[in-house]
Amino acid sequence: MHDDGYFDERVAARYDESAAEMFDSAIVDPVVDFLVEIAGNGRALELGIGTGRIALPLAQRGVPVHGIELSKAMAATLRAKPGGEDIGVTIGDFSRASVDGTFSVAYLVFNTIMNLTTQAAQVACFRNVATHLEPGGCFVIEVGVPELQRLPPGETIRTFDVSESRWGLDEYDVARQGLTSHHFEIVDGRLERFSVPFRYAWPAELDLMAELAGMRLRGRWSGWQREPFTSDSRKHVSVWEKPAI
Ligand SMILES: C[S@@+](CC[C@H](N)C(=O)[O-])C[C@H]1O[C@@H](n2cnc3c(N)ncnc32)[C@H](O)[C@@H]1O
Repeated sequence: MHDDGYFDERVAARYDESAAEMFDSAIVDPVVDFLVEIAGNGRALELGIGTGRIALPLAQRGVPVHGIELSKAMAATLRAKPGGEDIGVTIGDFSRASVDGTFSVAYLVFNTIMNLTTQAAQVACFRNVATHLEPGGCFVIEVGVPELQRLPPGETIRTFDVSESRWGLDEYDVARQGLTSHHFEIVDGRLERFSVPFRYAWPAELDLMAELAGMRLRGRWSGWQREPFTSDSRKHVSVWEKPAI
C-alpha cells in the first residue's frame, strides 16, 4: 500500500468529483450546524479531514478547526482550496497521532471509523480522542449500521451503487467483521477500480470503546437533524462525552 493509504494522489485528484453528492449543501449544512452548536466557543478536531468537505465550511462559521490526515495528497488538495491554508493539518494516523492543545469537539464522519480495520485500532482511536478533548468535550461519529439484515442468507455481496458509469459493491467477511467496498467507475473511457477494506462495528461496540476511553454516550440519532435512531436506521450519528471534572 502507498504511504498515503488508499487515498493516494490519483484518488485525491478525483475525490470531490466522485463524492460530489456528499458536497451538496443539503448534506453538508446540517453537519456543520450540528458541529457549530456542539463546539461552542472551543476548537474542533477532524479525524481524517480529507479535502475539507466539512472542515472548510465549519471554519467559515468561526470554529477553529485542526485536522489529522494520513494522506498527504488529500491534505494538499485541502490546502490548495480557498481558506485551506488557515486549517492546520497533522499528517499521521488518527488512532495514534498527537496534536497540541485540547478541543471541545472531535469528529469522524462519512464512515471513516471503519477505515481502521482492527478492533485494537478502533479502541486506540477512542482513547486518542479522549486525550485530546477538554473535560466536557464530545466525540461525534457518523457511520453506517452494518447491513447484515439486508444480506440474503449465505450471500456476501451487497450492491450500493448502480448507474451508467459507476458500480459499487460491499463484500462482507462476517467471521472477521470485515467489509471491502469495491468501487468501479468508467473514467475517460477506461474502467477504474478502487477497493478499500473496512471493519464494521455495531453501535453497542462503539459505546464500549467509548467507555474504555472514559467517555459516555450523550445521544444517538439516525441523522444530523437529530432524527430518532430506530431498528430501521441505516446510519447513526453518535455523541460521546468526556466527563467534566
Ligand atoms: C472517506 S474520506 C473522508 C474525508 C472527509 N472527512 C470527508 O468527510 O469528506 C476518509 C479520509 O480519512 C483518511 N484516513 C483514513 N484512515 C486514516 C487514518 N488511520 N488516519 C488518518 N487519516 C485516515 C483518508 O486518507 C481520507 O482522507
